[in-house]
Amino acid sequence: MLVFKLIILIQAVLNPVVAEVLCSKDVNITKGQVEFLEGRGVGSVLQYTCPNHHRASPVSWRVCGADGKWSPIRQPAACVMYHCSGPVTLENGWVSPRLAVYSVGKTVEFQCRPGYTHYGAPNITCLPTGKWSAPPAVCDTEVKSFCGDPGVPAGGSGWDGGLRRERGSGIPATGAWC
Ligand SMILES: *[C@@H]1O[C@H](CO)[C@@H](O)[C@H](O)[C@H]1NC(C)=O
Ligand SMILES: *[C@@H]1O[C@H](CO)[C@@H](O)[C@H](O)[C@H]1NC(C)=O
Repeated sequence: MLVFKLIILIQAVLNPVVAEVLCSKDVNITKGQVEFLEGRGVGSVLQYTCPNHHRASPVSWRVCGADGKWSPIRQPAACVMYHCSGPVTLENGWVSPRLAVYSVGKTVEFQCRPGYTHYGAPNITCLPTGKWSAPPAVCDTEVKSFCGDPGVPAGGSGWDGGLRRERGSGIPATGAWC
C-alpha cells in the first residue's frame, strides 16, 4: 500500500496537472468588438476591431500575461474616429486654422504671402481615412525652381529632386501642379 502511494506521488511530481492560466473573457471596447484570436491562454492575443473610419485606442491588441492578466492599457479601450495629424505647414504663407489634430471633415485653407504664387489646392480636407484630400499647397516665387526646366524629361531629376531639396520630403511628387 505504501509503495502504491509512493508511485502515485512520484507520478504526480513527474506529471503535474497544472491548472491552465486563462485571461478573462470579460473584456470590452466602446463601440467595437473583441476577438480572441488564439483562445485566452498565456501568450495569446486579443484583437479589438472597430467600425469603418475608426481605430482602436489606445491599442488594437493585447497579450495574455503569465499572471493571467491582459497587457495593461492606460485608459479604457474605445473605437475612435480617425483624425488627420497636424500641424499643416506652409512656407511663405499661412495655414488656417492651425491645429495639432484635425477631425474628419475639417478643412484647412492656404494663403500665400504677397509676392508668392500658390501651387496646389486652395484648401485640403481631412478624409474619413485619416488622410488629407490633397498634398499641402506650396508658395513659391518662381515656377522654375519648383517645376523644373521644360527640358527636363518626365521622371528626370528636375522637378522631383528640386522639390524634395527645397521643401523637405513631406510632399508627394505627383507632378499635378506643373
Ligand atoms: C465594459 O465592462 C466593464 C466591466 O467589466 C463595464 O463596467 C463597462 O461598462 C463595460 N463597457 C462597455 C462599453 O461595455
Ligand atoms: C476649398 O476649395 C474648393 C476648390 O478646390 C472650393 O470649391 C471650396 O469652396 C473651398 N472650401 C473652403 C472651405 O474654403
